[in-house]
Amino acid sequence: MQILSTSDADLDRAARAIAGGLLVALPTETVYGLGADAFNPEAVARIFEAKARPTFDPLIVHIADLSQVDDVAFDPSPAARALMEALWPGPLTLILPKRPRVPDLVTSGLDTVALRFPAHPVARKIIARSGTAVAAPSANPFGYLSPTTAAHVASMLGDKVDFIVDGGASSIGVESTVLDMTGRVPTILRPGGMEKSAIEAIVGRVDDYDRAVASPTSPGQLPSHYAPHLPLVLVPYGALAGADLSGWKGQSIVALAFSGASRRLALDSGRYSRVECLSEEGGTREAAARLFALLHELDGQGESGARAIVAERAPDSGLGPAINDRLYKASKK
Ligand code: TXA
Ligand code: MG
Repeated sequence: MQILSTSDADLDRAARAIAGGLLVALPTETVYGLGADAFNPEAVARIFEAKARPTFDPLIVHIADLSQVDDVAFDPSPAARALMEALWPGPLTLILPKRPRVPDLVTSGLDTVALRFPAHPVARKIIARSGTAVAAPSANPFGYLSPTTAAHVASMLGDKVDFIVDGGASSIGVESTVLDMTGRVPTILRPGGMEKSAIEAIVGRVDDYDRAVASPTSPGQLPSHYAPHLPLVLVPYGALAGADLSGWKGQSIVALAFSGASRRLALDSGRYSRVECLSEEGGTREAAARLFALLHELDGQGESGARAIVAERAPDSGLGPAINDRLYKASKK
């Protein structure tokens, strides 16, 4: 594996590697992706191999220009077109009917495809210069925390990828919102970096996928996704100081507070060996951007004896639903 910079020459190398069937981890504004030529089934197979990802979990196809939509998807509806015009490039993935030329391996045999136009300039340049569309899941081993830095990718998948392009920390920090556009009402399959209100402003009513009644058509909805190695206990906002830790008496527990105020209360309670906070001011954007990095860091405390992570929920405004979705899934391992 080789780390590449964002110099023009290195981005050319990354693009040529993708065109040549190799695996390239690349920065996006949400999380780092593990990219390969979406139209090359052998290259796509290597993604699944590197992630140890079950092949029933379909990949997102990334493009760098609206003109590529028709290479991948079939006849987007007026609503889907309106979302593309208004919210792309950005952290929104649209589920659309797929073109036959998209390999079944990419879509796990579904007749739909997940399509995303990322905003990160480095991702856009690499995709554009590769001359193809790029299939890319988050660059983490299956079921583990997503990476928001090149270092996260290197430590988790370093021996399994050909190149990692280091574009700094991902600014949004949670994955894209996955929106199913194939039904009567657009439905959020995975809350993410694009807020529901921004989508509603373009298309009107948007439904939330109901975990309780539906079967997991989108494996991002499997509860064990995004999990750290340490057990994670999720508590309501403001409840860190009073959390029930009776199962871990006398053991070292670390905590993830949402705000600086919660962090101070948690520290004062004397229950935790270490407490980190997602956002001093309690802003959901900053919190999302720091979420995975802090979970990686706290998970690493397992090596110095920590036995569990206690995390408090974020408020439900802004990117709070995306943060709470990731914390909930991490707690269900
Ligand atoms: O922000 C992101 O979306 C990142 C960056 C790299 O773009 N990618 C990402 O990919 O999170 P991944 O593979 O970790 O998550 C893709 C999600 C999964 O939950 C998958 O099940 C769902 O999208 N998905 C993909 N194709 C689908 C389809 N045809 N129908 C329903 N869900 C689909
Ligand atoms: Mg993922």
